[in-house]
Amino acid sequence: MLLGVNIDHIAVLREARRVNNPNLIDALAICERAGAEQITIHLREDRRHIQDKDVKDIIEHSVLPVNLECAIEPGIIEIVCSLKPHRATIVPEKREEVTTEGGLALDLNNTRLTNAIKNLQANEIEVSLFIDPAAEAVESSMKLGVEWVELHTGRYSNLFAMLYSNLPHSNHTINEFNLSRKELKQELAKELKQIEDVANLAKKLGLKVAAGHGLNYQNVKAIAKIGAIEELNIGQSIIARSIFSGLYKAVIDMKELLNG
Ligand code: PXP
Repeated sequence: MLLGVNIDHIAVLREARRVNNPNLIDALAICERAGAEQITIHLREDRRHIQDKDVKDIIEHSVLPVNLECAIEPGIIEIVCSLKPHRATIVPEKREEVTTEGGLALDLNNTRLTNAIKNLQANEIEVSLFIDPAAEAVESSMKLGVEWVELHTGRYSNLFAMLYSNLPHSNHTINEFNLSRKELKQELAKELKQIEDVANLAKKLGLKVAAGHGLNYQNVKAIAKIGAIEELNIGQSIIARSIFSGLYKAVIDMKELLNG
């Protein structure tokens, strides 16, 4: 299982003081040495963490492929096309959200979406769509001609957290707080099966399959066992652990869980 380390949260810490510390570039070689296969970053419209210059510097200095998450805002797509990361993952974005809350609503007639995909691919950037684990979303992704889908594991992570720690992994919009433990267990098993079925369908349709959001050292194993998923993009839990154990060890620990 390939690991993309999302380093946005290093920039969150830096932006808290608007200094160049911690330096994102320092993270690149550490992630590579610890066995990560990809660096993932999100250039948000509100620039709350990653800045334009970071994207440029990271693409220039990273020995690992860079996966750049972005919304289909024409200004953002233009920047992505000019900076040429290896992959662009198109995500929905709302200004007021704490983090990406749900998968893309895919409309085959949305010219902003189809133009974004066309422009990225014309610049030799492979395209991934961040979608909810739903068969219709996978079928639409195939019709849109993208190379990858990334399945949103937020609901899985939320259910897992509610079952084992009584806390959702983020302020995700779903409201499943009223479920009993038994019901939560059933929902968790159903969600896991849904992710597996949708990953299998995507693979059958010729798409490469990634997954991510809310994955951590407790909940990742079951997702890592799904054979059709090639890659996981994980950020918050790795960067949080790195505060206490160092980034190198935090990435190694995660890689061990993915491959164990
Ligand atoms: N994948 C996508 C598409 C995301 O938007 C994010 C969050 O930026 C992640 C993965 C990583 O999520 P987390 O930080 O919860 O591990």
